[in-house]
Amino acid sequence: MRKPFIAGNWKMNTDAAGAAALASGLVKALAEVTTVDVAVCPPFVYLQTVAKALDGSAIQLGAQDVYFQNNGAFTGEISCAMLKDVCCKYVIVGHSERRHIIGESDELINKKAAAVIASGLHVILCVGELLEEREAGKTKTVVAEQVKKGLAGVTAEQMKSVTIAYEPVWAIGTGRNATPEQAQEVHAMIRGLLAELYGNAVAGQTRIQYGGSAKPANTAELMANPDVDGLLVGGASLKVEDFAAMVKTVA
Ligand code: 13P
Repeated sequence: MRKPFIAGNWKMNTDAAGAAALASGLVKALAEVTTVDVAVCPPFVYLQTVAKALDGSAIQLGAQDVYFQNNGAFTGEISCAMLKDVCCKYVIVGHSERRHIIGESDELINKKAAAVIASGLHVILCVGELLEEREAGKTKTVVAEQVKKGLAGVTAEQMKSVTIAYEPVWAIGTGRNATPEQAQEVHAMIRGLLAELYGNAVAGQTRIQYGGSAKPANTAELMANPDVDGLLVGGASLKVEDFAAMVKTVA
């Protein structure tokens, strides 16, 4: 019912030649895959290079962030219109590195999500608790708040343009993924919250990805959960063999 969706978040990695090679390698490796939606999110400066490499393939292009204004005096920022112009389909918003390193608030993330949806792009809204929040038993409260605030003002109709990514901060880049049970528990909570906010039909259609040390070896067990609809992959998305293996496992 929900088509699996695997996205690679390249973060601040690769260079022009490496980005092109990675994208071309994936195009080749995943040419036969039709049962999984696949996207890659390179750094802004390599979007056009990667778009060229992906041209004609089913792999979609995504950006790692965006600013909510259309254009104007916002030095260093990138708009939705610019992302559309270079063939992006997806935009990651609210990644934990932007929340906790750059200092983005739920309010800013909500403005970005709204701008992405209004522009016709598809938003991947990231949420996830810190280790101390999990240890204090606050995981569900924190994640529910982030989902509600991130989606404030988003209508049921607009939820077609939304994917949620649950990325526990303690699992990102640490090699320590959430267990399938931990992931399922939070994903089910998020889906329940979406049902409260938007009704069962929307909750049933919205894809919820897991992210945090996802790799070939844990893909099958994470994806076996009924509420895990895909993965948002960091480190393992930088190697053609690893990312392709993950997509093929799901396919
Ligand atoms: P890792 O897969 O490197 O843990 O990163 C996950 C992530 O943050 C994807 O957005």
